Amino acid sequence: MDYVKPKGKLGILIPGMGAVASTFIAGVEAIKSGKSKPIGSMSQMGTIRLGKRPENRVPLVKDFVPLADLDDLVFGGWDINEENLYEICVRSSVLDQALVDSMKDSLEQIEVWPGVFDENYVRRLEGTFIKTGSNKMDLANQLEEDIKNFTKKHETRANVMIWCGSTEIFFKSGDVHSSLEKFEEGLHNNDPGISPSMIYAYAAIKNGIPFANGAPNLTVDIPALTELAKATNSPLAGKDFKTGQTLIKTILAPGLKARQIGINGWFSTNILGNRDGEVLDDPDAFKTKEESKLGALDYILQPDLYPDLYKDLYHKVRINYYPPRGDNKEGWDNIDIFGWLGYPMQIKVDFLCRDSILAAPICLDLVLFLDLAKRADMSGIQEWLSFFFKSPMTLPELYPEHDLFVQLAKLKNTLRHIMGEELITHLGLDYYEE
Ligand SMILES: NC(=O)c1ccc[n+]([C@@H]2O[C@H](COP(=O)([O-])OP(=O)(O)OC[C@H]3O[C@@H](n4cnc5c(N)ncnc54)[C@H](O)[C@@H]3O)[C@@H](O)[C@H]2O)c1
Repeated sequence: MDYVKPKGKLGILIPGMGAVASTFIAGVEAIKSGKSKPIGSMSQMGTIRLGKRPENRVPLVKDFVPLADLDDLVFGGWDINEENLYEICVRSSVLDQALVDSMKDSLEQIEVWPGVFDENYVRRLEGTFIKTGSNKMDLANQLEEDIKNFTKKHETRANVMIWCGSTEIFFKSGDVHSSLEKFEEGLHNNDPGISPSMIYAYAAIKNGIPFANGAPNLTVDIPALTELAKATNSPLAGKDFKTGQTLIKTILAPGLKARQIGINGWFSTNILGNRDGEVLDDPDAFKTKEESKLGALDYILQPDLYPDLYKDLYHKVRINYYPPRGDNKEGWDNIDIFGWLGYPMQIKVDFLCRDSILAAPICLDLVLFLDLAKRADMSGIQEWLSFFFKSPMTLPELYPEHDLFVQLAKLKNTLRHIMGEELITHLGLDYYEE
């Protein structure tokens, strides 16, 4: 690992230039020009304790690990509609028009290339800006060509790809995903089991480019692509940005469990009116999201270990498409809990959140940490980035860690490990020993 800050541009390649991607990119531009602070970004605003408490060494994360500077980030991406980034920001109406207008020139310059799309995987969308090719391998080659041209034009020292595209329908890993050889054969044979997000991921990983999956799609969570990632030293992270309701869930549930408070019902419902909500209105796309959202509680609460507290838990998640709300989602949780002698109590949460405002800083942290991982020779699944995901990727034989605070401890200890600093166990007995 080279402990000095990297010199040169870092290319951020984004399949899916919608609300999240445009809020991320415009946000970085706004922060670069001093219009705002990187609020919500762990890498930019978070601190990390080093050594013993009396040492008072608590630098900012970005001053501790050699991350790319925001000034060095350059963006490019793909979509299935021909719009420039300024138009996407205006249409998504996440950010104030005046702020977007003030960055019009720079936003218009960001390239958006035609996407690789298959409406069988995202049924609620139709695109007019789509690549055509003789087979899926040909499409992957065209994506590689886009990446090559972008790298040359911006003279990037490295690139990172982050999927911010729509949620693809639910399906399980099959034979074509079981090895790289079968997957590449499937690309040549146009195997229907290979989704567009997998084609982007293949194009990136083949070139040693780290890949993050912001949606709950299977994408890189298949043996073929984890095998390729190992062979090309590409770090992988996923799946599904942990933003609104699941963020709150993974904050509350570990606290209730820590105090041995029982839970017998957790009903979560949402109204959401952006394009993501429209895509998730398709039951097969919702199924992908539902699987991702449901997993967290079971893993945190461990009903097998705590049957008296959690074995009867009824967990339900709904997402309702409701256009008037746009990107400003409202998520309600009704939590039925019980305490001493089984006496019931309730918690109600009403989170009026902004989806893309919560997701944008996660995109920033992920691309910076994945670039760091690449330079630190870490390849394959980056479990230490679980902190950012609803459905963290792990090795098949391991269960994912969902507790936000365990995830944070893991993230910070990994940064200490990368930098050769002592890990922090919070034991602290030595303070009290003579
Ligand atoms: N905002 C959040 O809080 C949040 C949290 C977790 C996950 N996500 C996921 O992030 C993704 C993006 O969310 P969003 O709100 O920006 O949605 P969005 O609909 O605004 O943007 C998605 C974009 O992807 C494009 N697209 C779809 N398929 C494509 C393909 N094959 N190639 C290129 N472009 C493609 C669409 O045209 C659209 O512009 C969604 O999958 C969403 O589920 C968002």
